[in-house]
Amino acid sequence: MTIREVAQAAGVSIATVSRALNGESRVSAATRARVTAAAERLGYLPNELARSLHAGSTRTIGLVVPDLTNPFFPELVQAAVALADERGHLVLLCPTADDRDTAYRTAVALRRKQVDGVILIGDRIGGARLAEVLRGLPVVTVDREAHVPGADVILSAHREGGRLAVRHLVECGHRHIAHLAGPDTLRVSRDRLAGYSDALAEAGLPEVVLAGDGLDEADGYRLTGELLARHPECTAVFAANDMMAVGALSALRAKGFDVPGDISVVGFDDIHLAGYLRPTLTTVRQDTALLGRRAAAALLDRIGTDAPPIREVVPVELFVRESTAPPKNTGGPDAP
Ligand code: RIB
Repeated sequence: MTIREVAQAAGVSIATVSRALNGESRVSAATRARVTAAAERLGYLPNELARSLHAGSTRTIGLVVPDLTNPFFPELVQAAVALADERGHLVLLCPTADDRDTAYRTAVALRRKQVDGVILIGDRIGGARLAEVLRGLPVVTVDREAHVPGADVILSAHREGGRLAVRHLVECGHRHIAHLAGPDTLRVSRDRLAGYSDALAEAGLPEVVLAGDGLDEADGYRLTGELLARHPECTAVFAANDMMAVGALSALRAKGFDVPGDISVVGFDDIHLAGYLRPTLTTVRQDTALLGRRAAAALLDRIGTDAPPIREVVPVELFVRESTAPPKNTGGPDAP
């Protein structure tokens, strides 16, 4: 089908068909409806490449994520894609395995694809090289900053989340609380560790920190084994994210420990599985859908403007479930 046949069927000029299908404002609603109906009836699909060249916009954005195996990221992606779709944009999803070189090559490819902007879950992949290739392009970093000058930043209150998790354990009566930390190359790990330290300092309690490098279930499993061997005094664990908490629950069960009877466990993220684990997981909830929607909206709002960058911190919330309780053999939170 050609644009000429659509124009004849709708009784308008070819130029009017083009304006109507490109969403230009100089077309009345009635004419746009007539043209759209004719195009759908005839099965006409406009040439997107020609439209892009004409409009100077591909109506496509890039979304660069560390990986898709951790449920946190797909939940954020899904929300960002839904918002972009509502506003007529396609999303090119680019997992980078959290690798700096892959992220750089991805950014070059997105630039060459003439995307209208990029959403980055960044941090470890940042750096001058990435910033240079993205120069002049609208960029939003979400969840993990990527140190791209002029980029919007939208992220959760990671440090406050660490404080909430540990304060809850202190209020349960725990006095020896361990932290299974994420890699210190990630700001989210450093912020949650800082929140852990804040809460323990407030309570005058000692720190026990075991640092991993993966923020995944394997790390949680391995570090929990080390914790049980080196720190038998600990009655509670704050894991840097839910996937590490999943690993910790598995390791504790494998070693014959009951959760929360012997040891309490708190995670971070509130992935959709957290409420289906056994025991269900107490965790710090990130509003992942809001992060995704806000990142996409901020990027689409930024395209075509030179507004100063925004920084938005999204509040987090503690969801108390079955995996935490007062320590055994105490009178509960008020015990000496
Ligand atoms: O679970 C993946 C973690 O990395 C989340 O806590 C999220 O904040 C991301 O940065």
